[in-house]
Amino acid sequence: MSIEIKNLSFVYGAKSAYEKRALEDVSFTIKDGETLGIIGTTGSGKSTLIQHLNALIRVTNGSIVIDDIDLSQKRINLQLLRSKIGMLFQYPEYQLFEDTVEADVAFGPKNFGYKKEDIDYMVRQAIELVGLDYYEVKDKSPFELSGGQKRRVAIAGIIASRPSILVLDEPTAGLDPIGKREILDLVKRLKDSFVKTIIMISHNMDEIAEYCDHVIVLHEGKLIYDTTPEELFSDKEKLVGTGLSLPHTVNIARLLSEKGVEINESCLDVDSLVNAIEKAVPNE
Ligand SMILES: Nc1ncnc2c1ncn2[C@@H]1O[C@H](COP(=O)(O)OP(=O)(O)OP(=O)(O)O)[C@@H](O)[C@H]1O
Ligand SMILES: [Mg+2]
Repeated sequence: MSIEIKNLSFVYGAKSAYEKRALEDVSFTIKDGETLGIIGTTGSGKSTLIQHLNALIRVTNGSIVIDDIDLSQKRINLQLLRSKIGMLFQYPEYQLFEDTVEADVAFGPKNFGYKKEDIDYMVRQAIELVGLDYYEVKDKSPFELSGGQKRRVAIAGIIASRPSILVLDEPTAGLDPIGKREILDLVKRLKDSFVKTIIMISHNMDEIAEYCDHVIVLHEGKLIYDTTPEELFSDKEKLVGTGLSLPHTVNIARLLSEKGVEINESCLDVDSLVNAIEKAVPNE
C-alpha cells in the first residue's frame, strides 16, 4: 500500500489577511513497509503534511493517493481511510479522557463499529503490544500512569484498530531518555505486527538516523531532500541553511576521521560507530 503525494500545496487562511503558505509543490512516494522520517525546522510544514494523510486537512492543491483512495476527490470514505491510517498527534497523552485504560484503548475500535468480543480482544492485544501488563493497567485511570506509560496507552488506542500505516508526530517529544528509548523500541517492534509502514516526524537526528530507512526534509514548505538517512548525513554541506544538524554518531565519526582514524562507514547508530572504531583501531 504505497502513498503517492504529487504537487501538494497548502495555504492556511487563503485570501485572508493571515494567509500563510505552509506547503509548496511537495511530491514524493512512500513505499509499503518503509519507516519514513520527516524532518525540518519549526514551521516547515511537517504537521500540515501529515494531517493531509488522514484527511484532517483536505487536499486543496495537488493530489495524494493512498492505496486506491484518492484524497483529492470530494467524497472519500473517511472510515476506510482512518482504519488504514492511525495517527498519533504530538503530546497524545493530553487526549486520554476515559476513566480506565481499557475504555480509552477501546474508544477507536468502538467508533469503527466492531463487535464487543472483537473489541475486548483487540484492546487486550494492543495493550500487550505496547508492552504493558493488561491485567495490571486495564482498570487504572490513565492519569495514574507515568508519562511514558501514558504515551504507550495512547499508542495502544491508535493501534487497537489495526492500522497498516502509523503516523507519529514527534512521538518522543518531552520524554526522558529512557521513555524515549522505550517508545522508539516499541515503534520498531510494531513493524513485526499488522503495522507495515511508519511515518515519523522528529526533531532528533539521532532517532531519524537509527530508525528510518527513508527521510524527507521540508524547508519553508518545500521538499528539499527525498533520500536515505545514510545519503543525507553523508555530507555536512547538505544541511547548511536547513537549521538541522548531523546525528551525534556521524559527527563523532567525522571528527575521528579528521584526526586520522580512518572510518569509512556511515555510523548511523552507536553500535555501528563502535564497530567502525574497533575496525579502524584494532586491538594490539
Ligand atoms: N491553523 C493554522 N493557521 C494558520 N497558520 C498555521 C496553522 N497551522 C500552522 N500554520 C502555519 O503553517 C506553517 C507550517 O506549520 P506546521 O505546523 O505544519 O509546521 P511544523 O513543521 O509542524 O512545525 P513544528 O516543528 O513547530 O511542529 C507555519 O508557518 C505555521 O505557523
Ligand atoms: Mg508540527
